[in-house]
Order: sequence, then C-alpha cells, then structure tokens
Amino acid sequence: MTLPTRSRILGLGATVPEQKLTNDDLAKMVDTNDEWIVTRTGIRERRIMREDEKLSVMTADACRKAVANSGLTIDDIDVLIVCTYTPERLCPSAACETQGELGMGTKPAFDINAACSGFMYGLQVADSMVRAGVYRHVLVVGAEAQSRYVDYTDRGTCILFGDGAGAVVVGPSDDGTETGVLSILLGADARGNELITIRNACPGLGEKSPYKDTPPYIAMNGREVYKFAVRAVGEVLDNVLAQAGLTRDEVDLLIPHQANIRIIEAAAERLGLEKDRVVVNIERYGNTAAASIPLTLEEAATTGRLKSGMLAALVGFGGGFTYGACLIRW
Ligand code: UT7
Repeated sequence: MTLPTRSRILGLGATVPEQKLTNDDLAKMVDTNDEWIVTRTGIRERRIMREDEKLSVMTADACRKAVANSGLTIDDIDVLIVCTYTPERLCPSAACETQGELGMGTKPAFDINAACSGFMYGLQVADSMVRAGVYRHVLVVGAEAQSRYVDYTDRGTCILFGDGAGAVVVGPSDDGTETGVLSILLGADARGNELITIRNACPGLGEKSPYKDTPPYIAMNGREVYKFAVRAVGEVLDNVLAQAGLTRDEVDLLIPHQANIRIIEAAAERLGLEKDRVVVNIERYGNTAAASIPLTLEEAATTGRLKSGMLAALVGFGGGFTYGACLIRW
C-alpha cells in the first residue's frame, strides 16, 4: 500500500445554537456595557445553548454537514475525534455520545481536551492517522458547551464565551495536486496551568476549593492570558512557517482562534497581513474555544474567501497553556 504524503480537508460543517446573548443582555446581568465589550474584545453577541439542548446533538449536526460536504457518507468515516473542554459529562466522552447520535456503529470515538487549541491538536492527530494509513477518513469536530460552565456573575469571563461546533473530514490528498496540510506545530506550557481553569469540575478530587457547593465554573486571569496569547501566536506562526520552509509574505489568509479582536490584530500585524486577509467572526460568536477555528474555516470556505490554491494559516491558543498552528494549501 502506498501511503499518502499529505492529508487534506475533504468537507466542512458548522452549527451554532439559535439563542443569542447580546452585550445588552449581559449588561442586565453584570456591571458592563456594549461599548466596553466591543472596544476591548470585538464581541457583540454569542450563541448560547438552551437548557434543553444537548452538546452531542449540536456536534452531530456539524458532523453531518461536514460529511455531506465531503461527498462521503457516515459509513465512510473511520474514527470520530471530538475536541472539547466543556463536555456535558466526564464519562462517557462527548465523542461517544456524538458517535451514538451519528449512528456510527462501533467506530472508535474519543475526546481531545486542549481547551481553545483543541482543534489544532485534533487536526494533527487526524493528519498523522491518515498519513500513517491507520484510517482513511477522520471526522474532527471542535465543539463547546461553554455556557454550561460560565459564571454569569463574573464580568471578566462571561462576556467572552459562546457555544458552537465546527467539523471537518480529513482524508488523503491523493488527487495529485499540492493541496493539503503542509505543516502543524503544537505546544503546551505548564506555567499557564492556573491562568485558565475550570474550578469545581471534580469536587473532592484534589481540589480544595472554598466554593465547594458551587457548580463548576471557568476562572481566568485575562490580562496574563492576553500577554501569553500575543507572544505565543506570533512565535508559533513563525515556527510553523519555518518548519514548512515558507515565509510570512506567502500566507494568503489568516484563520485565527477568535478570542479577542486585539489579539487577532496583533497576529495579523506580525504577519504583515491587511484586514481583508484575516477572517474574523468574533462579533457574532464570541470565543467558542475549540469550535472557533473550524467555525471560522467553514465560513471562509463557504463564503468564497478561501479559494483553491491559497495558503491558509490557522492558529490557536488557550487553557493549559496550549497553542498550535497549521498551514494548509487549499
Ligand atoms: O481563548 C483563550 C482564552 N481567553 C482569552 O484569550 C482572553 C484574553 N484576555 C482578554 O481578552 C482580556 O484580558 C479581557 C477582555 C478578558 C479583559 O480586557 P483587559 O483590557 O485585559 O481588561 P482588564 O482585565 O485589564 O481590566 C481593565 C478594567 C478593570 O477595571 P479597573 O481595575 O481598571 O478599575 C476591570 O475591572 O476593566 C474592568 N472590566 C470591565 N469593565 C466593564 C473587566 N471586565 C469588564 C467588563 N465590563 N466586562
């Protein structure tokens, strides 16, 4: 058997909840206002799951769209990877619940938790599986139910996060062209362990929390995360370009994790990219963590901004700290 030299994205799909949470809605809940949120983050609204909605249903919906978009069927998919740090249960995994929704028989399914960098990690696993010939078609989906974990009394975090799911089918790039994943680089830095955490997720298990009786909630040191993000994004982009033997000026489109418009602008400036070469949807979805990059990628592809032959740079960072970047010839 000849192994593929490269993997590529065969199809994309995206699903967000219908319910919107606007800055004005948040201003009724905490001491904040639309102007502060827009100026500091670029966010105007986010999508939030209703109480009776399920992460696995939303995730499966994005997966079905990606499979249909690839021209394959669910039966052609060999393995499911769900990238999430906000599963509805620790066990079973979000992937096992989604696998059931999709009717994937006994095909393997597992979660990856690398917080907001999750999709970058999932993509590298999928790319490796395809190139090694372990599986032919890997379904990778970034999906988050962050609203289940957000503390809606904390104005430092509740303004940022939203829910959503973005899926891709990864398969061999055997069409004889140069298209596909050129390079992926990941990193993790334990010095950031305490800067984004979910507190109380495992009460009694190693965490001596003074808030023992409160539900799990996301806690973040925004200012420190911001500094880390600006540095990490610049470094990992330079390093992934070096790994691929490419230069900044060869990048056609930046598809960044949508955490904060100011972080995105700093990354674009570093690459010397004008606004029209950066895909931004943070104003509509906020920070959807592992779903953010695939949602943005799907939008870039379906709106025609990402065209055949373009070099796309994907970059993510988040809790852990974790970070990662990927270059794709579309
Ligand atoms: O996906 C990865 C995860 N997270 C991130 O990427 C987040 C990265 N960090 C950020 O995006 C920013 O740090 C935030 C948007 C979270 C905060 O923006 P900032 O410019 O770093 O604000 P700050 O935390 O330095 O706070 C500035 C001021 C403070 O008031 P004082 O101490 O100067 O009086 C805050 O109390 O703004 C206040 N503040 C707010 N005011 C109105 C903080 N949050 C709010 C708010 N509305 N929602």
